[in-house]
Amino acid sequence: MEVKSVSGAIGGMVSEVDLTQPLSSADLSSLRQALLDYQVLFFREQPMMPAHHMALATAFGKPQLHEAYPHVSGFPALTVLDNDRENPSKIEAWHTDMTFRACPPLGSILHGIKIPERGGDTLFASLSAAYESLSGPMQSFLNGLTAVHDFRFGFKESLSEPGGEERLSQMVADNPPVEHPVVVTHPESGVKGLYVNALFTVRIKGLTARESKELLAFLYDHIVLPEHTCRFSWAPDSVAFWDNRITQHKPVNDYWPEHRKMQRITVDNGVRPSQGE
Ligand code: SIN
Repeated sequence: MEVKSVSGAIGGMVSEVDLTQPLSSADLSSLRQALLDYQVLFFREQPMMPAHHMALATAFGKPQLHEAYPHVSGFPALTVLDNDRENPSKIEAWHTDMTFRACPPLGSILHGIKIPERGGDTLFASLSAAYESLSGPMQSFLNGLTAVHDFRFGFKESLSEPGGEERLSQMVADNPPVEHPVVVTHPESGVKGLYVNALFTVRIKGLTARESKELLAFLYDHIVLPEHTCRFSWAPDSVAFWDNRITQHKPVNDYWPEHRKMQRITVDNGVRPSQGE
């Protein structure tokens, strides 16, 4: 297996691995290490069937259900993101997946099924690069803070659609607001990262509403500086596997009215984000 950096801060292109075949334990430990080193891994020409996708996800943790999205028949954890003229994508904001949960997924594996001729890339940002490029006094200040994250905040458009409250009532009931440190320590690599995102973070506790709003706006801009990011252009059967504990991502919705279809599994390991030492 070979991995080449795609940018200075984040992203590795993996070659010489076949995700449609059972992976040896040596391959899996190389992938685990590469995920820690590069934070998001990209693969080309991987015609995975749902069972291959599930096998890869299961090797890393427990595939999670996400009832807000449809899924592949017979595979409840294999979420379908299917967008075209009738159904444009609603995911606009940069985000870390599912931080509205006490234990958000450790990673997500996204498989390109139908890719538009132009556009539809995904952007990724390194939360550790963003933390490390802050000044020492700002890092110290942020280390003491806690933020509130909420499913209802992230899915407000879906909830306000006709029938949205009924369709998502179980998700709302299962996901009351949660708190996470503003700076987390990655449980495996030990690097620190900025853990707030525009989709699910509502406010920073202990600050006035204005202070919280302005600080979050600064952090969101800072996280996505070009120096902290990379961009992935999809082809059919490309795969992206991101470490959700230390990254944010954003789909670029510039392909309308073309059709883009992706299949995604989010992988859980039951670990709550923590500030560490
Ligand atoms: C996601 O936000 O998980 C989907 C990203 C994409 O469709 O590019």
